[in-house]
Amino acid sequence: MDAIRIYGGNCLDGQTTIQGSKNASLPILAATLLINGTCEIENCPNISDVYHMQRLLESLGCIVEREGTLVRVNTEGLSECDMPSDSVGVMRSSVMLVGALLARTGSVCMEYPGGCVIGARPIDLHMRFLRQMGVVIEENEAGLCAEVTRLKGATLKLPFVSVGATENLILAAVMADGVTVIEPAAREPEIQALCEFLQYAGAQIEGSGTDRLVIHGVERLAPVRYRVPSDRIVAGTYLSACMCTGGRIFLRGAPVDHMESVLSQAVMMGAAIEYEPDGILVTGKDHESIRHTVTTGCYPAFPTDMQSPFMVVMTVSEHGGCIEETVFENRFRIVPELCKMGADITVHGNVAHVGGNSRLHGAIVHAAELRGGAALVVAALAAEGTSIVTNRHYIDRGYEDIVLSLRELGADVELA
Ligand code: UD1
Repeated sequence: MDAIRIYGGNCLDGQTTIQGSKNASLPILAATLLINGTCEIENCPNISDVYHMQRLLESLGCIVEREGTLVRVNTEGLSECDMPSDSVGVMRSSVMLVGALLARTGSVCMEYPGGCVIGARPIDLHMRFLRQMGVVIEENEAGLCAEVTRLKGATLKLPFVSVGATENLILAAVMADGVTVIEPAAREPEIQALCEFLQYAGAQIEGSGTDRLVIHGVERLAPVRYRVPSDRIVAGTYLSACMCTGGRIFLRGAPVDHMESVLSQAVMMGAAIEYEPDGILVTGKDHESIRHTVTTGCYPAFPTDMQSPFMVVMTVSEHGGCIEETVFENRFRIVPELCKMGADITVHGNVAHVGGNSRLHGAIVHAAELRGGAALVVAALAAEGTSIVTNRHYIDRGYEDIVLSLRELGADVELA
């Protein structure tokens, strides 16, 4: 069955190593298309979204090999510009290939990308600003075809911050004619990783990690070996689990520099964090007797991807709290499932009011998307009795082996 069985109610106690970042691996794998030759990407997590990206690269004529978490991409045979719909449809990051393919081959056709159902998730910004770089795009209901003779640098003034659009425009800009300015650019650590990978390959990018990127187009990029940073969202998920169950866990390789807002929120909610040279020690469940407020936002604000796991933490905290979601309009899909487990949550527009001190109980609940699915597992760990979280495939999109990791952390979980 496509599910996880969780015997809840145990304190966590153990250690695990945090996998490489999904959201950094995907655009970096797309970026290998810009480079003629073989790039080696280390610490690429074994997750289904990365496998889809590997398959997409193969369908375009690349040779992709994996040894553990090292992925080698040889782009010398790049030939196709049409992407297979089965992989594009399931993964939002396939849109990243548009910028990269336009830069390398000048044309691409694809169906509209998929991804988690956490909101409308249009790609209008990607298209609008690629057009400003000289791309001719024809769109119909099913998808798009884009073409350009030579990408032209331009000053791109985005109406709001978008992680995906920033990444796509970076990929289009690094080998464009002239200078491209992207403003406001997203500042997420995953964007910084993409810029670092491209800089190693010879790209001229200024302002990485700020909201203004200035990119001087270069003629060509050279193959490189690059190590993807650890996944801040996976680390945050296990941190939230420990806050719900109590206990003490060590998260080896947790990228603390990328987790400031999450760690400070965790401390405000009663967790103790000890910083070790190779990770963090988390002591959970010493809840503060205040109501908590979390507002999601673009980095460095509290990440929308951590919102669902922290909703569970609020549920079991003494006084509950309030969550304002400002990034995706459909990120409260787990609320009815959490209520089945005994949570007391009401949603008004983009604000969720979370009653505290809920005694969660085991239930059969259904994951509807990646981070919400992981949050249901977190809730089940805190619940009395046995739970089953179905639709495990959503969780597998982003967590390398959540059952193994949680077992290492002392949880009683198994595949179901
Ligand atoms: C990325 C992350 C996702 C994270 C999100 C916000 C990846 C693979 N996914 O998603 O995990 O939750 O950033 O940190 O890295 N928007 C438009 N038009 C566009 C593009 C975006 O209206 O052309 C809107 C979206 O609907 C959303 C908001 O902008 O409401 C932010 O989206 P964006 O930052 O682009 O997120 P993703 O790149 O999809």
